[in-house]
Amino acid sequence: MTVHIGSLKVTSPVYVPPMAGVTDIVFRGIVRQVDPGCLLATEMVSSRALMNRPETRLMDLSESERPIGIQIFGHEPDVMAQAAVMAERRGADFVDINMGCPVPKITRGKDGCALMREPELAREIVRAVRAAISIPLTVKFRLGWDDQTRTAVSFGQMLEEAGVNAVTVHGRTRQQLYSGKADWQFIGRVKRALSIPVFGNGDVFEPEDAVRLLETTGCDGVAVARGTLGNPWLIARISRLLATGNAGEPPDEVERLVTAYRHCLRLIAYKGVRVGTNESRRHLTHYTKGIPGSAPYRARLTQLTGAGQAAEIIAELAWQVGGSEGRRRFLLAVEQYNLEYGEDPGKRHGDAEDGVHAPVDVDAVAPVAVP
Ligand SMILES: Cc1cc2nc3c(=O)[nH]c(=O)nc-3n(C[C@H](O)[C@H](O)[C@H](O)COP(=O)(O)O)c2cc1C
Repeated sequence: MTVHIGSLKVTSPVYVPPMAGVTDIVFRGIVRQVDPGCLLATEMVSSRALMNRPETRLMDLSESERPIGIQIFGHEPDVMAQAAVMAERRGADFVDINMGCPVPKITRGKDGCALMREPELAREIVRAVRAAISIPLTVKFRLGWDDQTRTAVSFGQMLEEAGVNAVTVHGRTRQQLYSGKADWQFIGRVKRALSIPVFGNGDVFEPEDAVRLLETTGCDGVAVARGTLGNPWLIARISRLLATGNAGEPPDEVERLVTAYRHCLRLIAYKGVRVGTNESRRHLTHYTKGIPGSAPYRARLTQLTGAGQAAEIIAELAWQVGGSEGRRRFLLAVEQYNLEYGEDPGKRHGDAEDGVHAPVDVDAVAPVAVP
């Protein structure tokens, strides 16, 4: 199932769309390890902030991540155009514009989903960005601002006419935030009105959900966000189900714990002890959810202070779910990762106590190109 996004040929219809605070280079590396072909995107990057901090690590990419897009947000056409040029120089395969973020902090400034109420401004932004870059351009948006203004069909048509190469439609309005159910039927109406590829998005948590979304909407691809939290294998299983009719088994609990630890270690190596540990707490909570008897371990993981402690707590949980064999498997993996990263990954790089400025030294973290 090849999807053509302008000049970009994507061999998979499965997309992990931007999630602020989640889809950083470490998370994407974990997804890429289990699924070689899916489409990836960065977290959203403020076009305005980029003007002062063009070197932001939010736009760090690695070669192995392709195909990958950088998502930008903002409402000033010239600033958005400059930001898009920076994204292209950093090596993005496509630029995605965020016109769907519902968070008040973002919409108050006419950014994100607020642009669905300002279609003329949205058109101007798209035209300015389109003229500034030569890579494909995509936009992510919602059904509309609220139930009275479900403008996604005309909005999508306007974007296509202005030069956008593909869109992702989340089947909720801004007013809904994440409540209710994503309206896949309505996404189907957008799909039928456009000639460019449409990725349907919203409420895919099992491989079979993706098939149903594609069947219901007729979309060219499916974007899966929250379902991947602590579960990168969902993407691989969707890909497998679409390609072969069989999603295969999810990984066993010990494998989940091994990946959880690797994720934590990489975050600490990449972001430093303080930030990496803080962010790991949330990911580890997701990875361990649903594992029988994991609640008390999860409570301890939310207080995590470093990689060593993570290894200890997770080893106990591995023993609880897999007995001595489970614990042995986990500890073997820990040994291997500690050889790769050193026993104190954040500090190995001369990490300061605040841990924020650890230099990049993760296998998948070599920037593609720096302006
Ligand atoms: C923690 C989190 C952060 C998100 N950040 C972004 C973002 O930066 N840009 C964006 O376009 N959408 C963002 N989204 C929305 C998702 O990309 C997606 O549209 C939404 O979660 C619905 O899809 P799902 O039901 O598969 O989760 C975010 C969602 C979550 C849960």
